[in-house]
Amino acid sequence: MKILLVGSEATPFSKTGGLADVLGSLPKELNRLDMDARVVLPKHMWTKEKFNDKLVPVCNFRVSVGPKEEYAGIETTELDGVTFYFVDNEYYFGYRNTLYGHYDDGERFGYYCNAVLMMLEEIGFYPDIIHTHDWQTGLIPYLYQKKYSSKTKYKGIKTVHTIHNIAYQGRFSKDLMPYLDVEYSSDLEFDNLINFLKTALVTADYITTVSETYATEILHDFFGYGMQNVLRERQDSLGGIVNGIDYDVFNPKTDKKIAYNYSLYNYLKGKAENKKALREYHELEENNRPILGVVSRLTDQKGFDLLSEVIEGLVSKGDIQLVLLGSGDPDIERFYNELHSKYPKNVGVYIGYNDEMARKIYAGSDIFLMPSRFEPCGLAQLISLKYGTVPVVRKTGGLRDTIEIYNKYSDEGTGFGFENYDAADMLYAINNALEVYGDPKSWKALVKRGMQQDFSWEESAKKYIELYKKLRG
Ligand code: GLC
Repeated sequence: MKILLVGSEATPFSKTGGLADVLGSLPKELNRLDMDARVVLPKHMWTKEKFNDKLVPVCNFRVSVGPKEEYAGIETTELDGVTFYFVDNEYYFGYRNTLYGHYDDGERFGYYCNAVLMMLEEIGFYPDIIHTHDWQTGLIPYLYQKKYSSKTKYKGIKTVHTIHNIAYQGRFSKDLMPYLDVEYSSDLEFDNLINFLKTALVTADYITTVSETYATEILHDFFGYGMQNVLRERQDSLGGIVNGIDYDVFNPKTDKKIAYNYSLYNYLKGKAENKKALREYHELEENNRPILGVVSRLTDQKGFDLLSEVIEGLVSKGDIQLVLLGSGDPDIERFYNELHSKYPKNVGVYIGYNDEMARKIYAGSDIFLMPSRFEPCGLAQLISLKYGTVPVVRKTGGLRDTIEIYNKYSDEGTGFGFENYDAADMLYAINNALEVYGDPKSWKALVKRGMQQDFSWEESAKKYIELYKKLRG
């Protein structure tokens, strides 16, 4: 079966978030399971800078964008058995130093959606399924329906759209309409704006999201970001499939970026060495207290309002040390920079994204914090488990589905959690974790259970294949 995965970022070619990890690893597993899965992405500036010499030109054509005709070059490369295509347009993607957030995002991604569908004929690849991801590709199911579904060669393609984060929808003024090169219908519109995500939600044959819990949460007002009613109408065609992670990439036994490699058998030594290295890097004092790690985009979604309420209380008493990496909201950045200035021996802060530093935090921390307001799936908690770092999470979305809460009576579970979005509840969960940390025997068993969890892609990829097959009938 032929699958075309369409998105706007995939590791190692481009990345702002977890979507990139998914598109960089799911197709590999689909192909291992005998699919012909290929991926298409925009050729972003970063891709051009790092991979230009690997990309081979395939063809080029012109795409109508309202009054203009824009160039589309298709280039390709193969990585780990997966064919990647890139849509090259210097003006839209080639020199923008961020992936999103430009005044013409609607035009850029409208162009991209049109170019992807035109590409199929140009390269002679007609997939059984077009599987689109997030708002940037949300017009594709609609464009397919309106412009391609009756063309002989394109007939019978089924569309699946995956929501990685419903808060980002691609909303644009209706002035964009003439640039989309398709007839208008109310499918394109929500709240008097063009809404790319909504368009996909009403036109894709099937909708998925990245955990089972999130698939039910988004039917409710708190999580739906306005889409709850649209989704309720489509409940029969909505499901959750949890993400996996790529253990070739995230494995403390082989990870070249951490100070000391370890596995289940020598994790105590591994943790101690990596903790020491992390402390040295951040110039934190040596003591016998646990390190709490955070690796996150610094946004509201990730629960920083809760954490900021209690964290000073914890570090000022010297009960814990904190190491945080991330970037985003300037207020949150400032808060943690100031916390570091106040407690330089107990707080390490790295503002920015840095893969190597992130891995050093996964490996060197004892506890990993993820108090998200909402979390479609979350990958950091899965990486933490593998690195023997015990997650403390809010029980929402994928966090609920992947972390089993510790039970001291039965000695089961892999982490700590709290239900309500409330700072006191979070603190209670952190304190529970600290208490168990103080009992080395229980802690060791807890860590080991986490390291033994298997969140590789195989099971989830099989679920996608089942879905693709069902849709093809
Ligand atoms: C988004 C979500 C995150 C999810 C990722 C990959 O970044 O916020 O929860 O893990 O997409 O699906």
